[in-house]
Amino acid sequence: MTTRLIAPSILSADFSRLGEDIEMINQSHADYIHCDVMDGVFVPNISFGIPVIEKVAEIAKKPLDVHLMIVNPDNYISAFQKAGADILTVHYETCPHLHRTVSSIKEAGMKASVCLNPHTPVTVLDDIIGDLDMVLLMSVNPGFGGQSFIKNTYKKVRLLKEMIAAKNPSCLIEVDGGVNFETGLNLYDAGADVLVSGSFIFKADDPIAAINHFKTL
Ligand code: DX5
Ligand code: ZN
Repeated sequence: MTTRLIAPSILSADFSRLGEDIEMINQSHADYIHCDVMDGVFVPNISFGIPVIEKVAEIAKKPLDVHLMIVNPDNYISAFQKAGADILTVHYETCPHLHRTVSSIKEAGMKASVCLNPHTPVTVLDDIIGDLDMVLLMSVNPGFGGQSFIKNTYKKVRLLKEMIAAKNPSCLIEVDGGVNFETGLNLYDAGADVLVSGSFIFKADDPIAAINHFKTL
């Protein structure tokens, strides 16, 4: 049995009324608010940054799950902590000194999470898994909402679950990209603890009902 958590991604929110969308999430059974920070260098898109996170944190009643798709994340760890991040995720592919980066995130008082792109095998985390609070598996190539789920992710979740059971049972597995009720159920069954979902939730007729339904899958 895994923990079934849901983290709506505000990348798919209406930025002209972001406050209302945060209030919507506040009223739902969402566990985290997933915030996608993109720099146009690591990924081919630019989203939002620290000033937006600060404002989201002022009204959010859920922990902020901040996913950094940026190069040189070490330069901004303290700034994201001050802005209100509770969980900070960096990409394995952007961190040549990953142990140092993870230590800095924890020393700053946040939960530390590492993200893997679809082509990066989970085995690269073998010697750092004991230090992590969460691993985020990308199930699309990062940069955009609304892409199709990559099915190879199921195998990665199962293998990562075995690594975690052996080395750090309290570490959570989060999956991000192309998550809907069908892929979501399969992911929970494979061993995922936290699902990120953006376009599926925000395109739903009743986004609160959609968020709450994930908790019952
Ligand atoms: C993609 C982002 C995701 C994105 C997911 O790079 O990391 O969090 O918002 O969007 P959907 O759920 O639409 O695939
Ligand atoms: Zn994300």
